[in-house]
Amino acid sequence: MRKQIAAANWKMNLTLQQGEALIEALSKIPHDLKDNQEAVFGIPFPYLIPIKNALGGKKNVFIAAQNCSDKKSGAYTGETSAEMLQSIGISYVILGHSERREYFNESNELLSKKVNICLENELKPIFCCGEALAVREANTQNEFVEIQLKESLFHLSAEQIKGFVIAYEPIWAIGTGKTASSAQAQEMHAHIRSVFATQYGADIANSISILYGGSVKAANAKEIFGQPDVDGGLVGGASLIAEEFAAIINGLK
Ligand code: 13P
Repeated sequence: MRKQIAAANWKMNLTLQQGEALIEALSKIPHDLKDNQEAVFGIPFPYLIPIKNALGGKKNVFIAAQNCSDKKSGAYTGETSAEMLQSIGISYVILGHSERREYFNESNELLSKKVNICLENELKPIFCCGEALAVREANTQNEFVEIQLKESLFHLSAEQIKGFVIAYEPIWAIGTGKTASSAQAQEMHAHIRSVFATQYGADIANSISILYGGSVKAANAKEIFGQPDVDGGLVGGASLIAEEFAAIINGLK
């Protein structure tokens, strides 16, 4: 059974004290993770260790960085390497978020290098893809997302792709309050799975967890996560509110 994941992406929000208060508040609200379910917290670099400590190694709870360098090590002032993240016990790295693609010019080619360096350091990428509004309006979203996946991931072996985590985040639904309908999410997630099935076969495709991101909140999580090809969510704004994120975790099927 493939993994179901409720992943928080704090982005560049919260002070350390606010983050710790959020984890404390969350711990007081009942939320359950079954064996095949995970909660992942995508945390700003300076708080990776303290928030990992605050979470206290709970079962099926993991930490993600929000980025890493494509370089191994060396004179790259301000960068953080995959090896550094691995050395402090980080499990996941969010890669290719649309905000990094747009504001930091991250290309599919650069992201393929980041994917490689994460895998070399036993870090699991949460690989983001998704189209802008103009692409959706032109009805070319399937081709657009397929190219993102092909150019960044299809050099990987079947063994490396097995159990991979993809996050489909339509840019027009991020931070806008406009969620893709559960039917739109399902349609794209099924398309993504079929793209992997064509390249790697049905078994590998069925092992991939495909998360939906874009204005997920307590009120819509259950319906979206209930779609057959939606395996959880990558959550921005609502992950900053303990009650919301607890309900989102409980919305995993
Ligand atoms: P929102 O949940 O705030 O729309 O953000 C989604 C997102 O970008 C998660 O990575």
